[in-house]
Amino acid sequence: MDTDDLRKSYIEIVASVREYMEEQLRLGFLETELREPEKKLPYADFDLPNLTADAESCTKCPLHETRNSVVFGVGDTSADLMFIGEAPGADEDKQGEPFVGRAGQLLTQIIEAGMKLKRSDVYIANVLKCRPPGNRNPASDEVETCSPYLIRQIELIQPKVIVALGSFAAQMLLGTKTGITRLRGEFHDCQVAGLNFPPHKKPPVVMPTYHPAYLLRNPNAKRDVWEDIQQVMAFLTDG
Ligand code: URA
Repeated sequence: MDTDDLRKSYIEIVASVREYMEEQLRLGFLETELREPEKKLPYADFDLPNLTADAESCTKCPLHETRNSVVFGVGDTSADLMFIGEAPGADEDKQGEPFVGRAGQLLTQIIEAGMKLKRSDVYIANVLKCRPPGNRNPASDEVETCSPYLIRQIELIQPKVIVALGSFAAQMLLGTKTGITRLRGEFHDCQVAGLNFPPHKKPPVVMPTYHPAYLLRNPNAKRDVWEDIQQVMAFLTDG
């Protein structure tokens, strides 16, 4: 064999090894060996008590300077159903619990009178854990800084369904800028980058709907929310 022949057979061998590896990869056999390891999100190793403690002493964004409480979340930590709102308001900031003001009372009515569940049967949290002063909208850097807490919360609670209350929660969970009116009314796959569910657990589906504070200003929209909630109830019963 001369050098040219050697080079040719070397190229053929490399090509066939490559073809074999690509086929194995396509079939999923080499998943762990060849793929780039997924970047671990912050808090990936935290359990709920550690995560809560970390959030309660968080100073990662300026909201810590004006908050009275960190409003981490409340409810059944193994609930199938999770409600996610935007950020604590004045009442929540005072009491340290999400959805306890007027909008919260409406949410509690939806859960208890509408769904015939106890508020304590579900888990309730927000995208931001601290109150934006004057109830202004969350800033995008605040959402970015705070969302690892919510992502880990979702991983630990492992809900089947998340009801996203209003556009901030819906857009964060679905990785979109589409408005709530277009998103609501149907289930979407959760699109949170890096959300890590065990292989035997289906990641949650997301039902976006109007925020209860919007319903206080627009009571006609309650009909739409009730339709969305009925779909959620059917999903939890059937599948
Ligand atoms: N609005 C929210 O989005 N969350 C609360 O906890 C209260 C009001």
